[in-house]
Amino acid sequence: MLIRRAPRFTASEITDPTLYLSRRELISGAAAALVLAPGLGEAATPAPPALQALSATRHAAFSLTEPLTKVEAATTYNNFYEFGVNKDDPSRLGHTLKPRPWTVHVDGFVSKPKTFDVDELMRLFPLEERVYSLRCVEAWSMVIPWIGFPLAPLLKRVEPTGQAKYVEFTTLLDPNQFPAQKPGFFGFSSLDWPYVEGLRLDEAMHPLTLLTVGMYGKVLPNQNGAPVRVVIPWKYGFKSAKSIVRIRLVSEQPKTAWEKAAPQEYGFYSNVNPAVSHPRWSQADERRIGEFRRRPTLPFNGYADQVAALYTGMDLKKNY
Ligand code: MTE
Repeated sequence: MLIRRAPRFTASEITDPTLYLSRRELISGAAAALVLAPGLGEAATPAPPALQALSATRHAAFSLTEPLTKVEAATTYNNFYEFGVNKDDPSRLGHTLKPRPWTVHVDGFVSKPKTFDVDELMRLFPLEERVYSLRCVEAWSMVIPWIGFPLAPLLKRVEPTGQAKYVEFTTLLDPNQFPAQKPGFFGFSSLDWPYVEGLRLDEAMHPLTLLTVGMYGKVLPNQNGAPVRVVIPWKYGFKSAKSIVRIRLVSEQPKTAWEKAAPQEYGFYSNVNPAVSHPRWSQADERRIGEFRRRPTLPFNGYADQVAALYTGMDLKKNY
């Protein structure tokens, strides 16, 4: 571990997302301008770079037909703890991340390990657009037109060996690009960097698991995990690791960043499950960003027909 960890804050110290949202909605117009005005204590945020357009045909069978979340919301209300714990930190501070050049190592228990340049990945695997909802463990959700390709063909290309049972995703570790990875950032280190997530091999191979390079017809903005992230729509959003530099096939269940931080709150599987509450709040319903009424949360986030068979015989209350 390169970074010595300061004592961790407890999860209850993070702004409750619902409080945060209602506060955000109240602070509008002149008040917001006053708070954010450059020169009044906040450094001016550079204008976001123009994002390159990406064209991809929509995969209708794998796409929701529900209204999309507004792009402004999807790119300003983010969880990306490498930039801080507040929802607007990633869009305010994301300019320090340099998404090109960028490589992804695919290795571990495979016959043909390989380092791919992200542009090479985008040439090798045909891009598709898929409208998925992503349901955050904090009980809100968004509907986003993602652009990417299924992870399975990439994994097949490196030829997993018989010992490969799980897939581990690792986000970039670079305090020069991710301010919250700097020792002493805000006086604490929120997670044990780098951010690590994992899936069972069959989950990673499932056709819904999307290696994602764009959204809303453009390459990914930094705050959403540029240049490449994974999106696993039947699991809570934190499984969908951003800004990935390594995909490793391993024999043991990976120890994930959130499990290390709070194992009683965040399990390895983290399938969206309205019947299993988070220890501090219910998962029975959710707020779609942009809507006011809450809607019931569906088992596996609505993807039960496609994925429930992966968990036959498993007690999903124990394997949360
Ligand atoms: N990946 C990294 N590297 N760091 C993070 O903090 N947050 C996760 C996930 N991936 C996170 C991450 C969480 S909690 C959520 S809900 C989703 O990213 C949010 O993705 P979005 O900002 O594109 O909506």
